[in-house]
Amino acid sequence: MVLAALLGAGGIAQAADVSAGRSAAQAKCAQCHEADDWEGEDAASLASLIRDIVAGKVKHKGKLELSAAEVDNIAAYWGQGKK
Ligand code: HEC
Repeated sequence: MVLAALLGAGGIAQAADVSAGRSAAQAKCAQCHEADDWEGEDAASLASLIRDIVAGKVKHKGKLELSAAEVDNIAAYWGQGKK
């Protein structure tokens, strides 16, 4: 039921799944980051930044292990601002 509601309310970026991004961010990033850390950043630039971290090109506090889909989903979630 929750999933249906989220899917119904979604539609921001077709390819990325904001609700999956929220779960992934809460599971893997929320101990250090909050969604509103990224206010004003758009999903595309966040995605490329996170991709560079995963690839080891941008330094980060810890190594990030994310699939390409997880990167897009987290970027979509963070990129839409605080929700
Ligand atoms: C153990 C704490 C911790 C966790 C967990 C963590 N981060 Fe970070 N992250 C940091 C800190 C601290 C910084 C800022 C300091 C720095 O630049 O290294 C940062 C910076 C960033 C930046 C900005 C990098 C830049 O150069 O502008 C991004 C993007 C980011 N994290 C993404 C993520 C994502 C995505 C996750 C979850 C998959 C995550 N982080 C999980 C601690 C964490």
